Amino acid sequence: MDLVLFGPPGAGKGTQAKFLVEKLRVPQISTGDMMRAERSAGTELGKRFDSFMTKGLLVPDDLVIELLETRLKRPDAASGAIFDGFPRTVAQAKALDGMLAKHGRAIGKVVALDVPVDVIIDRIAGRRTCESCGHVYHVRYNPPPPTGRCAACNGDRIVHRDDDREEKVRRRNAEYLEKTLPILGHYGPVVAKVDGTGSLQDVTRRIEEALGQG
Ligand code: AP5
Repeated sequence: MDLVLFGPPGAGKGTQAKFLVEKLRVPQISTGDMMRAERSAGTELGKRFDSFMTKGLLVPDDLVIELLETRLKRPDAASGAIFDGFPRTVAQAKALDGMLAKHGRAIGKVVALDVPVDVIIDRIAGRRTCESCGHVYHVRYNPPPPTGRCAACNGDRIVHRDDDREEKVRRRNAEYLEKTLPILGHYGPVVAKVDGTGSLQDVTRRIEEALGQG
């Protein structure tokens, strides 16, 4: 199964992807996590990502598509993937369709999480992210362990992302509205709109229903 988790920044894509990995037994592919890993490692590629990400702008398509193409060749993604934060433009969507088609695959469902902007600002203000594995917490709704170590990888760097300040979130949201939202027209019939408000469990249940697995 190839599935796109779609929605504005802070909608809960990364959080829900972690639950779906267990259920669908395919990996989560998050271009945001991959880019942050390159930045943390201080690679040349990471520095190029940095100049866009710190401003809340989308990274250019050619860089992202190359990154994704390399990731898709890994054996764990041979039978499907949950795409989180990719595609972000119609050009990326077309490139992904082409990569999957070479292996007789296609996006089976686009789960589009619908969350109002005020809820998003609240979620992002409280978000904490593990720098090592990308696992996501929220100070109130899903707090990190009291030990300060990540429950998923035992890493000790659970941080507030540098692009999570309110003005950057608004910039990222503007990029989303202008460049990412039109993707829904590209995927048309396989789009399932899901209410992304309420508890983590409520949203998981709605996604499972949309996938016919409830
Ligand atoms: P990326 O890392 O993809 O960030 P994003 O899309 O902006 O999404 P977020 O990670 O902010 O949010 P999310 O929807 O995953 O929400 P989460 O689950 O964390 O991209 C960052 C940057 O990288 C971009 O700005 C761009 O520069 C670049 N980039 C990445 N991919 C790119 C691409 N394809 N093309 C070009 N550039 C690209 O949840 C948010 C918070 O809410 C968490 O604290 C969580 O615990 C909490 N929460 C979640 N659900 C609930 C709930 N139901 N109730 C209460 N709290 C909840």
